[in-house]
Amino acid sequence: MFKRPLTQIIAHRGSKGTRPENTLSAFQAAIDAGADGIETDVQLTRDHQLVIMHDERVDRTTDGTGYLKDFTLAELKDLDAGHFFSPEYAGTPVPTLDEVIQLLIRNDFQGVFNLELKTNKIPYPGIEQRLAGYFQRQSVPFRVVFSSFRAKSLITLRALYPEAEYAKLFKTAGQQARRMQRRHQVGALHPDIHWVKANRFWLPHVQLRPWTVNNEADMTYCFRHHFAGMFTDYPARAVAVRAEI
Ligand code: G3P
Ligand code: CA
Repeated sequence: MFKRPLTQIIAHRGSKGTRPENTLSAFQAAIDAGADGIETDVQLTRDHQLVIMHDERVDRTTDGTGYLKDFTLAELKDLDAGHFFSPEYAGTPVPTLDEVIQLLIRNDFQGVFNLELKTNKIPYPGIEQRLAGYFQRQSVPFRVVFSSFRAKSLITLRALYPEAEYAKLFKTAGQQARRMQRRHQVGALHPDIHWVKANRFWLPHVQLRPWTVNNEADMTYCFRHHFAGMFTDYPARAVAVRAEI
């Protein structure tokens, strides 16, 4: 009998609920929890290095202050990206994209790696070229899905690096996202779970991966609707919920 594929559990910023987000410790926890995928956010330093952080400013998650774009990689590496979460993680550094990729390779990760280009507020000119160059040099033994709230970033990167998969992020409405999906500019849509539920947006032919799905009711909703995937800060919890479905 045909069995539908399981909804993939994608660890949002690593295991954000249980570790300092977007650090190697968070990504290791996500792997250990049995996540099917890892989501993270990429930006560019002042000296054009690809680094991992969610906010455009370093203030919330580190002991520094200011915009990430104004830091060199060496300056960023001096910051503490763990203490804000718990003193137990004091001294945890901000990782580069390459450090995350090497961690996944060392762990024989074979799931989905979703890299969000944080270009919606700060466009980071040249980030698409840097990413295409990186992934052309570094072959990876897992699926790579690039996503962004900024359509232009996805279209630019897709032209440079068509080997990857692409997904449009959106919070509300999603007309642009659906248009991109219909035109095959992206293969998947990544909407806010609140918007999905309010709009009963679960067309069977659209690959959906909602975010951020943290409570058991929303997890069950995603699994029961057989969405392609879901992003969660609590991958271990999602693995346990899925086992009961
Ligand atoms: O990729 C899903 C999610 O990460 C998008 O929102 O703000 O957590 O990057 P945000
Ligand atoms: Ca993200």
